[in-house]
Amino acid sequence: GGVFTYDPGFTSTASCDSTITYIDGNKGELLHRGYPIDQLAGQSHYLEVCYMLLYGALPTAAQLEEFETTITRHTMIHEQMHNFFRGFRRDAHPMAIMVGVVGAMAAFYHDSTDISDPRQREIASHRLIAKMPTIAAMAYKYSIGQPFVYPRNDLDYAANFLHMCFSVPAEQYEVNPIVSRAMDRIFTLHADHEQNASTSTVRLASSSGANPFACIAAGIACLWGPAHGGANQACLEMLKEIGSVDRIPEFIERAKDKNDPFRLMGFGHRVYKNTDPRAKVLKESADEVLELLGVEDNPLLQVAKELERIALEDPYFIEKKLFPNVDFYSGIIFEALGFPTSMFTPIFALSRTVGWVSQWKEMIADPQNKIGRPRQLYLGETNRDYVDVENR
Ligand code: CMC
Repeated sequence: GGVFTYDPGFTSTASCDSTITYIDGNKGELLHRGYPIDQLAGQSHYLEVCYMLLYGALPTAAQLEEFETTITRHTMIHEQMHNFFRGFRRDAHPMAIMVGVVGAMAAFYHDSTDISDPRQREIASHRLIAKMPTIAAMAYKYSIGQPFVYPRNDLDYAANFLHMCFSVPAEQYEVNPIVSRAMDRIFTLHADHEQNASTSTVRLASSSGANPFACIAAGIACLWGPAHGGANQACLEMLKEIGSVDRIPEFIERAKDKNDPFRLMGFGHRVYKNTDPRAKVLKESADEVLELLGVEDNPLLQVAKELERIALEDPYFIEKKLFPNVDFYSGIIFEALGFPTSMFTPIFALSRTVGWVSQWKEMIADPQNKIGRPRQLYLGETNRDYVDVENR
């Protein structure tokens, strides 16, 4: 009984109040704690943005130094966890490994599963932000049959991630500052995005009082889907399938055909109906990185650019307000840096961890916090009597 508002897909329901991220979908505006995303991507860096998302304002120099030291000192994972990785098949998708390993952290860091203690909540936040790149890099190394590479404390967050992915014991990967800056910018652009599907999943999971590692594992599982974070992998695979500029019209027609389930991956957004401000920054970054690496004439980039041009002029995409989102250009950069497509969504997951953790922290501290328990519109059978199997 009772009267419920029916809102499938939550297109018009606010599930919480929050002071972390503001989006104006019509203006294409994204603010974290009030700071515009293009300023953060251009002038700040990822760990500073992490601090600001977690604690509400930009840090002083001393606060930033302390935070960076804390995160750097938490990058190692328990040595026993290596066995957990080794239990997977080598061809396991790194996202499957991440869901498992992050959930398993609850068994390795018992102290930070006590969510009633604010200090333990803070340590859990630091552990998650610090260890996620290590876990993602280990999932990658395992998949290609190379030994795990330990983190290096003399490198910054993005450079250390590149090191853990691309160094081998016989040879240290030489981190180019422009490349690590581009990586850091990608992390920053993915840091938070208010109540998207994975963040809502983290909040719903934690509304029951579940431990933070279980909640973040739930968020990673949700992010994996192709309509959400999995779109970056799906987008690059689509660009490869299109293959050359002359085949674009065929795929545009398929995307418009209602009898064909095909969609242009990396296009469209639930909230942005004008432009995705993150895609704008990434587009410039993609040009810069490809030029640096001397691969501007990469055929995938040519296809991406031409696809964008044709789609933006097509009445179908104009009418439905569909344009490239963050996943459209990130994949091209990852490809240029040498990541396989299976690593695209893990990089999104490690970048978004700070957003999940900040939203979790905000929620736990909120006195209005109660278990999430949606209702439904029941459309099934009404009350009927049980019939014995021989009489059916
Ligand atoms: N290609 C072709 N048509 C599309 C696309 C697309 N990418 N996206 C939406 N449409 C059409 C859709 O068919 C529908 O048409 P109609 O009104 O005639 O039925 C209309 O546009 C509205 O689409 P919707 O699915 O009702 O919109 P939504 O807000 O539920 O979905 C979306 C948003 C992002 C899931 C969707 O645009 C999509 O599937 N895009 C492709 C996947 C993608 O790039 N996802 C990444 C999202 S951004 C960041 C992230 O979370 O990773």
